[in-house]
Amino acid sequence: MTSDKLLRARAYEEERLPAVPADLLPHYHLTGSVGWINDPNGFSLYKNEYHLFFQYNPYDVKWDTMHWGHVKTRDFIRWQRLPLALAPDEGYDASGCFSGSAIELPDGRHLLMYTGVRQEGEPGREAEYQTQCLALGDGVDYRKYAGNPVITAASLPAGGSPRDFRDPRIWQENGRYFAVVGNRCPDGSGAILLYQSEDAFEWRFASVLARSANQYGRMWECPDFFPLDGRQVLLVSPQEMKSAGPEFIDGNTTLCLIGQYDGDSFRFTREREQTIDYGLDFYAPQTVRAADGRRIMIAWMQYWNSVDYRPPQGLPFFGQMTLPRELRVRQGRLIQNPVRELEPYRGAAVSYRNVPLQDGELELPGIKGRCLDMTVWIQPDQRGPVFGSFTVTAAAGGGCRTRIVCRPDKGTVAVDRSSSGLPDTILNRRAFSVRFPEGKLKLRLLLDRYSLELFVNDGEQAATFVVFSPEEADGVSFSAAGSLLLDVDKYDLEFT
Ligand code: FRU
Repeated sequence: MTSDKLLRARAYEEERLPAVPADLLPHYHLTGSVGWINDPNGFSLYKNEYHLFFQYNPYDVKWDTMHWGHVKTRDFIRWQRLPLALAPDEGYDASGCFSGSAIELPDGRHLLMYTGVRQEGEPGREAEYQTQCLALGDGVDYRKYAGNPVITAASLPAGGSPRDFRDPRIWQENGRYFAVVGNRCPDGSGAILLYQSEDAFEWRFASVLARSANQYGRMWECPDFFPLDGRQVLLVSPQEMKSAGPEFIDGNTTLCLIGQYDGDSFRFTREREQTIDYGLDFYAPQTVRAADGRRIMIAWMQYWNSVDYRPPQGLPFFGQMTLPRELRVRQGRLIQNPVRELEPYRGAAVSYRNVPLQDGELELPGIKGRCLDMTVWIQPDQRGPVFGSFTVTAAAGGGCRTRIVCRPDKGTVAVDRSSSGLPDTILNRRAFSVRFPEGKLKLRLLLDRYSLELFVNDGEQAATFVVFSPEEADGVSFSAAGSLLLDVDKYDLEFT
């Protein structure tokens, strides 16, 4: 059945989307174009195309009762818009269709699993309930399952919260189905619950896979769980993180647990913990296994703790997704690099090799731009004094600039976007630890109209930042204290 709420939201999108000027949109990052988006949902391979849904309020640039928007792609770069997929039109999801995931069923249907939110009680004193629900479709239209909800409070382990019980991540394994779901324990801490099913419709509780124990934040949202390079990876998005060092930021952040999984006993043993992204705008990542076996991750490019500002450009949308990234596990750490599908969009290279830089600032002819893919290598120049710092300044002009300061003496990279078109009331600076093997460092920067994504040493660290400097701020310069040699490869990215 197609509800009035769904028809209204689709009609609204149809009317508004064509009116959004293309030059207001990012060149290669996904947005809702109108309204508000947050978490990526249902990232899945369906009939040889990658589908992505997203938390979506089409009507305003603020979070409100959630719908699911819908796009698909073949190359993770160019997305085709599809009609909005889910509206909050049933009793069990009247307060929102929250985050979830998707798979292709053996019979060819696309199965969405999401959290239905409902409130009960007098206005102002409502109690909220979250349950896991299904919808089935053909890649365009989805119908909610008559047996919804399929996972309710009745199958929570003792003490589990029926209010904070969300973001199911479904997968199929050896003909059976599994889902991980975020939940809250009586002490306020988070737990990731594992459910199992023979047919994807009837579910039972299997185990508590992991707990926050109030150590890494409290409630854990948006789990993802998959094998990679001989390890098992659990991604979660903790709320209320209290960071004790540079590894995590306070508030809503992300955590990667790497370990081993025993699929017979449903036990996950964690070996290593790290942040996923060292920037300021990265949350709720979700992955898909690509047709060629690669594990591809996308995330909401935003920080919940700073969503109250309005961009100076007065955009008709709020919220973007990161560029999808290829994941690997190397030496117990998560490695992330931009999808290789970006490379065909590179224009001609502007390259420099062994440029000496000593105690000063340098601009290089042809090195500038706001829609670019630039890799910079630095190494000590034995002929001069050891370098103590190296800075890339990008998106510079008209009083704006975004600085990346590399300190081999401290083993850190710090990004400062305090003059990047954002209010100074939000967090604008972050430093994190990196390796300088033999004093060398490799940085890859992806710049788009409203973002900077940084990849250090071939993906050992990734750091993501929203940047709202005007597009004319396209200057790039390099500076150093001490003496170093610089290599640069810069490509403009072209999408016409
Ligand atoms: C994370 C989150 C999810 C929830 C959704 C609601 O950003 O809070 O836990 O499902 O957003 O929009």
